[in-house]
Formats: sequence, structure tokens, C-alpha cells
Amino acid sequence: MRLRAVIAVIAGGALLGGAAGCSLEDENADLVAGKTKFIEKCGSCHKLARADTKGTQGPDLDEAFAQAIASGMGRDGVQSAVHDQIITPAKLAKDNKVYMPPKLVTGDDAINVAAYVAEVTSRPGKDTGLLAEAGKKEGGGEPAVARNGVVDIDSTAQLAYETNAARAEPGALTMRSPNPSGTPHNIALEGPGLGSDIVGKVVTDGGVSEIKATVKRGQYKFFCTVEGHREGGMEGTLTVR
Ligand code: HEC
Repeated sequence: MRLRAVIAVIAGGALLGGAAGCSLEDENADLVAGKTKFIEKCGSCHKLARADTKGTQGPDLDEAFAQAIASGMGRDGVQSAVHDQIITPAKLAKDNKVYMPPKLVTGDDAINVAAYVAEVTSRPGKDTGLLAEAGKKEGGGEPAVARNGVVDIDSTAQLAYETNAARAEPGALTMRSPNPSGTPHNIALEGPGLGSDIVGKVVTDGGVSEIKATVKRGQYKFFCTVEGHREGGMEGTLTVR
């Protein structure tokens, strides 16, 4: 069904290949770089098991190619289809609109991302070796400790805060979550004595989501309220003692 797109990309790639000495089916595509970029630029909207991304806005990329691969599409064909989608996202049949921003990655980055997706899509198991280390999920940072009643929990481009653990003393607490990425995030808090959840505003591109609460001894959960983000991993524990 994507044959026309695939052929167009292969033709384009061959032309480029003549000029630049590389082609789309480049054996030397950098899969490690591709995985890292995929997690950064694509993971917030797409599930891909081996990249451990859990976005839900776009189709599940393991399912997307499973049938085509089962019925004989080669991984080089998948690579071309993904590359094509990155540069010129397809319109959805139902309303003829494009939902995926074009050219989130370009040049070598686009080739590497497409190569990585093609390599791992609908493949069971886990990435090994260097690939396993690439783009390790954030969230494992040192616990954030409140100073003078203020604690910073940075958002990242992935569906993760830099740390999933924070500590504070009882009393007035300000939680701040700077978000340097283009993916919208916020911070919210639930737990003992708060009544309803306290929810900070959703920010992007350097904005800071901020909430104020009075906390007492116990455990609270902080999380992002943007749809799918908490489920995707944007949740942590605030321990007050
Ligand atoms: C803002 C959310 C968003 C981001 C970020 C995003 N996508 Fe998408 N993607 C979508 C949506 C929505 C669709 C389906 C509709 C469309 O094609 O526009 C889609 C479709 C796709 C498809 C086609 C799947 C199929 O079923 O045919 C592929 C492949 C794909 N994206 C790959 C990527 C890659 C690679 C990146 C990173 C460079 C990326 N996407 C980033 C939202 C996103």
C-alpha cells in the first residue's frame, strides 16, 4: 500500500547516493545515533518496544509494520517508508490531514532514525550491546532534595523527569519543573492532606511548571497530567520527613 512512496524515496535516495556517496539503505547507518534521536524526537508520540518509548498520539510502530514484514516486505523497504514518513508525513485517509510534524529530523539523523526503526520494529527481545546503552531512559537521576522549601524536578524530551524521587521537609513546598523540550509537560502532586490534586500549568520550550503545596510527613506522587505521560513514566515519589 505504501509502494509508491517507497519507490519515490528509493529513487530520491539513489540520486542523492550518486552525489554524496551514500544511499538510504546505507549499511553504515548509525543505529545508536538513530535510537537516541528516535527516543528524543519520536518517542513522545510513538510506542516502540525496543526503544522503550510509550507515546500514544501516533500509531504503535511495532504494530505498524508487523503485517507488511510478515507478508514479505524487507527491512530496507521499511526503512524507506519510515524515512518518507519523516520527511513528508502521509495524510490520514479519514480527514486528509497531516498529524505528524514534517522533518523532525533531517539528513543523516533522518536516515539513522529510519534505519533504527526498521531494524527493531516488531522484533521481540531487547536491544543488546551499545544499542542497549543508547538513549537510556531518564528518571534514574539523583533524588531532588528541597532547599528552603523549593525543589526542582526537570522535565526531559522523553516521557520522563530527570529523577523519579524527591525529598522535602514538612511545611510549605514549591515544586518547579523546567521543561527545555518541545514536548508539553507539567508537574502535579497528589497525596496526604492535599484534598484534590495540585496541578501546574503545561509548558514547553523553556517554560517552568510550578505548584505550591503544604506537605506533611508521608509519601506523595508527583506526575505529568498531559495525556499518556504519567502512564509513560512521568511519575515519581516525593518523600516528606
Ligand atoms: C506529535 C506526535 C508525533 C511525533 C513527535 C512523531 N509522530 Fe509519527 N505519527 C504521528 C501520527 C499522529 C501519525 C499518524 C498520522 C500521520 O501520518 O500524520 C504518525 C505516523 C507515523 C508513521 C506511519 C505509521 C503507519 O502506521 O503507517 C511512522 C513510520 C512514523 N509516524 C514515524 C515517526 C518517527 C520516526 C518520528 C520521529 C522522527 C515520529 N513519527 C514523530 C505522530 C507523531
